Amino acid sequence: MSFYYKLFRWIAYLLGLLLLLVVLYGMGRLLHVAQGSIYHGERAPYLQMASATAMTIRWQSPTRYRGIVRYGVSPDKLDGQFIDAESGASHEVRLTNLKPATRYYYAVGSEADEFEAHEDNWFVTSPQTGAEQSSRFWILGDPGVVTPGQTKVRNAALAWMRTNNRSNRPDLDALLTTGDNAYSSGKNEQFQKQFFEPYQAVLQNFPVWPIYGNHDARRWSFHEIFSFPTQAESGGIASGTEYYFSFDYGPVHFVILDSEVSNRQAEGGMANWLRKDLKANQLPWVISLFHHPPYTKGSHNSDSTYDSRGRMFDMRENILPILEQSGVDLVLTGHSHMYERSYLADCHYGTSDTLKPEMILSRDKQHYQKRSVASGSHEGTVYAVVGSSARAAHGPMNHPIMASSMMEIGSLVVDVNGSRLDGRFIGGEGMVLDHFSITKGVESATVGTCDR
Ligand SMILES: [Fe+2]
Repeated sequence: MSFYYKLFRWIAYLLGLLLLLVVLYGMGRLLHVAQGSIYHGERAPYLQMASATAMTIRWQSPTRYRGIVRYGVSPDKLDGQFIDAESGASHEVRLTNLKPATRYYYAVGSEADEFEAHEDNWFVTSPQTGAEQSSRFWILGDPGVVTPGQTKVRNAALAWMRTNNRSNRPDLDALLTTGDNAYSSGKNEQFQKQFFEPYQAVLQNFPVWPIYGNHDARRWSFHEIFSFPTQAESGGIASGTEYYFSFDYGPVHFVILDSEVSNRQAEGGMANWLRKDLKANQLPWVISLFHHPPYTKGSHNSDSTYDSRGRMFDMRENILPILEQSGVDLVLTGHSHMYERSYLADCHYGTSDTLKPEMILSRDKQHYQKRSVASGSHEGTVYAVVGSSARAAHGPMNHPIMASSMMEIGSLVVDVNGSRLDGRFIGGEGMVLDHFSITKGVESATVGTCDR
């Protein structure tokens, strides 16, 4: 046997061993991810895919059964019923043929249960699409970690909304997040302990629309736990995917995008759907949410191509032009663990050193005006990074597009009343740390010059 033949054999053995180790590691990793995606305990009811005529109620039970939801307009008379499509431990029941803007009480259980209604188990259906109803949304950013800050921010915002309540209306209409809902790896059990349990009192009454963050993407739980409208069940144009979609709430069209795993190119599936959806929109207000901020100088840096593997660049360069062309009013993101909120901006698609004065449509620090009553192309957009609803991190906080930057824990409350939108960042001590507004239909408002 020649020396070279022996050498070749040894190399072949070593390569074979290496391949085996890689396969074993891959299988172990897959098993680890799969295990982390499973949760066998109880999960109290939460509300999904709200619309003017339907609501999905989900919950989880330690045992398998065919779930039943009984509901009615009075807690004493739950005279309607819907049943799970199949038996299991994770239940998903969609109530349909409901009346818009109506309060319903509900109880969940199995065939063997008594179905006693509890006065705290209720929800209110969305108003008719386009209805001029005052609307309030609570936005939590990167909330999924149990900290003293998480508790303070939650209690402070709920107390503020209670004090500043709307007569004969619940204190809010929907909960949205900007992603990273369960640290550190999006395990199903982390969702339970760090998201569902801390916010259960809200989740039982108000639909939640969570954004897909990079930490959520580390396991397979997120899309198992939450239900999203792929067929325009809650408004907008069908996207055919749970990763990006839109929905309506009265006068507001929400566009939910995925900056984590979907194609972020200008001619990708998400961008093409986005153009169609925004073109079809007739509602006066448009708010878009995704996880990676196009502008931030917080715990992430939107000027770095390495940071988050260029996702912030992709969203800024490829997606923002579509949003601004269609007159999106407000863009909410997270990922950076602080609060940053821009001036009324237009057409800034480069790094922060390329920001020109004409890209800031108003130098006012707080209150902005737009000319069109509905969505006017390139009339300006406000960008807010809300990423500190559980903890705040360090960062330079000096992006020149921002009118307000702060290293404070808090959450955002957005109120839409007719032609005015107000955003308030409520800190952990209950103070309004930032307040901005957008008023529409102001003839004298400055319009951007981008693409004109
Ligand atoms: Fe993140």
